[in-house]
Parts: sequence; C-alpha cells; structure tokens
Amino acid sequence: MSLKEFKFSFEEYADDKNTDQQDLELLNKARGVTKEAYAPYSKFFVGAAALLSNKKIITATNQENASFPAGICAERVLLSAVASQYPNTSINAIAISYNNKNGSSNHPVSPCGICRQSLIEFEKRFNQPIKIILAGQTGKIIIIKTAADLLPLSFNGNDLL
Ligand code: THU
Repeated sequence: MSLKEFKFSFEEYADDKNTDQQDLELLNKARGVTKEAYAPYSKFFVGAAALLSNKKIITATNQENASFPAGICAERVLLSAVASQYPNTSINAIAISYNNKNGSSNHPVSPCGICRQSLIEFEKRFNQPIKIILAGQTGKIIIIKTAADLLPLSFNGNDLL
C-alpha cells in the first residue's frame, strides 16, 4: 500500500480591496448579471462571467424549469454560450457570484459537482487552465488557479480510450 496525497491551495482575500483589478472587473460582471437569472423556484440567483483568451467577456445565469431537473446551472449555461459563440477560443478565467432569496450574499459558493466536471472538460479541450473566482456580492473572495483542483481523480476522455 502507498498513501497518495492531493494538495490543494487557493487564494483568499478578505474583501474587494487588494484583489487584482482584472479579477475584480470579471467578478463585478458576475455579480451584476445575477439579477438576470431565471430562478423562480429556488430563488437562488447565480451569475457567471468568463474572460476569454480573445479578451471578450461572456456572461450567463442559471435557468430553472418547472420540471426541476431540466434546470441548468449558470456555469454550464456559460460554457455552452462560450463554446457556441467562440468555438475555437479558450477561457482564461470564470467568476461566479449569486444572490439568495433575500437579494444578498456575503460569502463565496463553489460550483456543483456536475459543473466541475464540465469545467474540467473545457480545460482539457483547450489545454488551458481556467482560473475560478468565487464571491458573494460582498465578503471574502476565493481564487482557485485551475478548475482541475476542484475535482481530484476526475473521469476524463482518456479513460474512454
Ligand atoms: N446553481 C448554479 O447555477 N450554480 C452552482 O454552482 C450551484 C447551483 C443553481 C442551480 C439552481 O438553479 C439553483 O442554483 C439552486 O441550486
């Protein structure tokens, strides 16, 4: 038996101050689009913004459905929008924010498991790490250098060969 170790480190900032200006700009886009989310069932309004390698910024929100499993998280709406509008362009960074049913949020939330799998697929497709920036409308900010860190031992296309 050998014991394997997975080490994961990430950056944490107490608030917007001292956070990189470009990261903050992307985060503020994600914070802003939360009001466009379609989340009448959960009332959990998620916004996501991607900075592409061509410098364009694309935003997306969660889209729910009366048939609950048909709803889609903001992160996967975002990846589909990017891949459809710019099929040959990689993503440098994604910021994710939200508002809860009280219309506020004060701590970061992380992407769900399915979204982690989708983010990793996008990284592998373009061989480009995606920086993940997480924060509420206020409060601390977490920055993770690659989505792959969020899903150790992930299943991927090589396993199908
Ligand atoms: N949701 C996202 O959009 N992203 C996440 O990372 C977590 C959850 C959405 C799905 C659903 O519309 C609502 O938030 C509550 O789960």
